Amino acid sequence: MYENMEELQNAITNCRGCKLGKSRTNIVFGTGNINSKIMFIGEGPGADEDLQGIPFVGKAGKLMDNAFDILEINREEVYIANIVKCRPPNNRDPQEDEITACINYLRNQVMIIKPKIIVLLGRIALQNILGKEYRITESRGKWIEKKGILYMPTWHPAALLRDETKKIDFINDLKQVLNKNNELI
Ligand code: URA
Repeated sequence: MYENMEELQNAITNCRGCKLGKSRTNIVFGTGNINSKIMFIGEGPGADEDLQGIPFVGKAGKLMDNAFDILEINREEVYIANIVKCRPPNNRDPQEDEITACINYLRNQVMIIKPKIIVLLGRIALQNILGKEYRITESRGKWIEKKGILYMPTWHPAALLRDETKKIDFINDLKQVLNKNNELI
């Protein structure tokens, strides 16, 4: 485990810990404020993220940015990372061996940031952080507390592309996050 985010990032720039390391263009490590009380966790990079090395810059990211704009959340003030740091080909779900090879990097990021609130974006994030027994349809919008961290599961922003009502849920879930964050300060 690294105490320092830069050291951690440097340590994994040449990671070949799983097969995604062979096909990626860039590692998508994570961006934002490492002192943030709020952290967002997605699934894994898509094509745009793979090219730019930055999380959520593609179509789904634009929808997330729209919600952030509405709620006046500054992307640079929160921290955004993913379950896997390299792009799964053809946007397939990350596989178990890939997640196993990568998840300790995310755990290390959480250890450094020490967020009070973690927003879990979609099923893959929810199940790999809190457990396979969780269902995103049942858990979204509800706080789950574990080991002193408050988790808010919500839809993955890509789901908002297909369903208007999910956009409303997403905004409402993030409103809860902001309200809770204000209570915690
Ligand atoms: N989808 C994710 O889960 N993460 C990204 O960074 C981009 C799209």
